[in-house]
Amino acid sequence: MIHDLVIKGARVVCPGVVSACDIGILEGRIATLGTALEGREVIDATGLIAMPGGIDSHVHISQPSGPGVEMADDFASATRAAACGGNTTVMPFCLPEEGQTLREAVAAYHAKAEGQCLIDVSFHLIVKSVDPVTLGQDLPALIAQGLTSFKVFMTYQGMRLSDAEILQVMDVARAQGALTMVHAENEDAIEFLRDKAERAGDIQPVFHARTRPVPVEREATHRATTLAEVADVPVMIVHVSNGAALDEIQRAKARGVKVLSETCPQYITLTADDLDRAGFEGAKWVCSPPPRDTGEQAAIWAGLKQGAFDVFSSDHCPFRFADTAGKDAPGARASFRNIPNGIPGIETRLPILFSEGVVKGRISLTSFAALTATNHARIYGLTDKGAIAVGKDADIVLWDPALQKTITQADLLHGSDYTPWEGFSVTGWPVRTLLRGVTVMLDGAPTGGTGGRHVARACPDVAR
Ligand code: URP
Ligand code: ZN
Ligand code: ZN
Repeated sequence: MIHDLVIKGARVVCPGVVSACDIGILEGRIATLGTALEGREVIDATGLIAMPGGIDSHVHISQPSGPGVEMADDFASATRAAACGGNTTVMPFCLPEEGQTLREAVAAYHAKAEGQCLIDVSFHLIVKSVDPVTLGQDLPALIAQGLTSFKVFMTYQGMRLSDAEILQVMDVARAQGALTMVHAENEDAIEFLRDKAERAGDIQPVFHARTRPVPVEREATHRATTLAEVADVPVMIVHVSNGAALDEIQRAKARGVKVLSETCPQYITLTADDLDRAGFEGAKWVCSPPPRDTGEQAAIWAGLKQGAFDVFSSDHCPFRFADTAGKDAPGARASFRNIPNGIPGIETRLPILFSEGVVKGRISLTSFAALTATNHARIYGLTDKGAIAVGKDADIVLWDPALQKTITQADLLHGSDYTPWEGFSVTGWPVRTLLRGVTVMLDGAPTGGTGGRHVARACPDVAR
């Protein structure tokens, strides 16, 4: 067989095994894994590692963020940055604006993404209201269209659902075979601490971290897994930041609850001290849950090593720092309460885990591929993606495992004006990203195409 393209000479990371083979690509799919393959075009990848293209199943792009506040990335800039960071699919959340139905929100997101994306996208939903239209009409219709996962929040005023409401949403997930994702932090406890801090004049960015301590996440994680147990559904606990929350997840699993879990680069590399910088600087690291301390980082690493986490995502939620439509929003200097939550990380997720995990010997190459691509595809029903295997989309990233870089804003393509990892040194960087066999990034430069599509998903196996 003459392939359209053959990648030769790489160490190829297949599910569970690293192999020295050629990858033969035909019509955008992996057609053959073997030796001495023939192709009309050949990429010599000697010395490189071929990995499944990264799937980042937790990103926020062009998300409505409140009056006067704007996210720093649109679909064009986010997918360019993602491709440069070794990703081939990102999964943003569709959040309805005030007065918008969920279906209208999805239509608006499609309009924003259409013709803009360098890599593939696949939307999750956010359920922030349990009215009859949302539960009875929009969710079933959207799940049938392949938007088979949705997030609910136990925190954020205006977004949080009560336990009773979460159970109603989980019941729809159960009936329709969808997966519920939960942001687990106890809003009432946070508000109690936030109010107390403000009354004491403790208004600087670091108090964002101090008013969202580990117990508020631990308690909510226990509650979320218990609600899933009551509703008899699987649940994904997103952005787990600490060992106590992970313990709750493990306990629920031991009871037979189907709990999946996600962690992110911020919880293995950053700490609350990053928020404790002079003046307003700490706002750059304000995200929820907040980064913790080195002890909690060690607990997250232990979980990653033991296979306790299913996915490693970025929770990319970019705002500009020097911008009143970003971190410096009206009121943000008067109280940490008003600082938009979220940090950029779509471009740096994979190099950070590769360097800190694979290069430092904490996790294997095959675990890396599972945590960054394969498990995301399996869990969220991206049946054509996530692995270097015959029949899958040829979404492949070539890594130079020896390339040393110091992460710096000047080199990044995301729309934010800073990176939380400024000055962080890594070994290993993606040098070429292919989406369905087409190169979309070469040597750090995006190719400028807009061949990314929205991918409808199957119902997650775990939720069937
Ligand atoms: O601070 C964060 N993580 N912002 C993004 C929204 C969310 O909760 O995931
Ligand atoms: Zn969240
Ligand atoms: Zn998020």
